[in-house]
Amino acid sequence: MTLKAYNQVPIPSFMYGTAWKKEATTQLVQLAVASGFRAIDTANQLIHYQEALVGEALQTLEKKGIKRDALFLQTKFTPVGGQGGRTPYDASADLTTQVRQSFDSSLDHLHTDHVNSYVLHAPYSRRGLGEADWEVWAAMEELYESGKTKMIGISNVTAAQLTQLCEQASVKPMVVQNRCYAALGWDKEIRKICQTHGIIYQGFSLLTANTDFLADPEIRTIAKRLGAGPAQIIFRFAMQVGMLPLTGTTSQQHMKEDLQAEQFALSTEEIQWIETIAL
Ligand SMILES: NC(=O)c1ccc[n+]([C@@H]2O[C@H](COP(=O)([O-])OP(=O)(O)OC[C@H]3O[C@@H](n4cnc5c(N)ncnc54)[C@H](OP(=O)(O)O)[C@@H]3O)[C@@H](O)[C@H]2O)c1
Repeated sequence: MTLKAYNQVPIPSFMYGTAWKKEATTQLVQLAVASGFRAIDTANQLIHYQEALVGEALQTLEKKGIKRDALFLQTKFTPVGGQGGRTPYDASADLTTQVRQSFDSSLDHLHTDHVNSYVLHAPYSRRGLGEADWEVWAAMEELYESGKTKMIGISNVTAAQLTQLCEQASVKPMVVQNRCYAALGWDKEIRKICQTHGIIYQGFSLLTANTDFLADPEIRTIAKRLGAGPAQIIFRFAMQVGMLPLTGTTSQQHMKEDLQAEQFALSTEEIQWIETIAL
């Protein structure tokens, strides 16, 4: 299954996330693709991701017949504050240069001449968007216009920041990637903005941010009805309300189970109940 952002670029409806996999990244990316995932999320941020090992996995997959074009690759530009002291760019250079250097280094790591989606890991400003955000966004727009990335997006964004970006940017984001808490109505406010603008909302930490919910007896009853597990119910719910979920599993069994969430359906009543479970 694929989703399409407002620029009509297709994106697989479930994404495999590579954060915190360390040396296992290579093997897990191969396993994820063998299990059926076609979209991979990474970042040029050594403190949490091994982007070069994602690239190593891609080379092995290519030898096994899985071509670059069969995969959707998403990576991120991480501002210096989120890099833990090791930047894949000259941190003393201007921000436009930092984005260009980080992007080129991502292409090297991933052994490709383009990525499918390029995401600003987080705005520089806590509230609103400041000069640094606009400079970085302009550099990302330039990469989009050059065709080196087919989509651009933003992560860890507030509703006010996203609204401002949609109103004032030359190129609106095509994707938003946020941690998705049941306690915030599953990021309802931001999902609504995304829906209005044809932006794909990617939800991360759907399981780890909602552990209480996973243990809810009612969820277990729904899961039983469908012959599924609570994790699959969350992923299925995410898909049915229009999100693109990310999973960060390290288990092949869970990879298969997570993908199976595409195979069953929750009722309208179940969806409505889960939407407001923590409100
Ligand atoms: N933009 C950002 O700032 C940002 C921040 C955080 C994450 N992300 C992205 O989002 C991705 C996912 O994040 P996450 O790891 O927090 O996601 P997650 O999928 O909510 O959490 C992963 C955990 O869920 C478990 N799990 C997965 N499927 C399961 C299943 N079917 N049954 C039981 N347990 C299951 C995993 O355990 P097992 O390993 O045992 O399966 C693992 O402990 C990251 O890899 C990264 O790409 C982005």
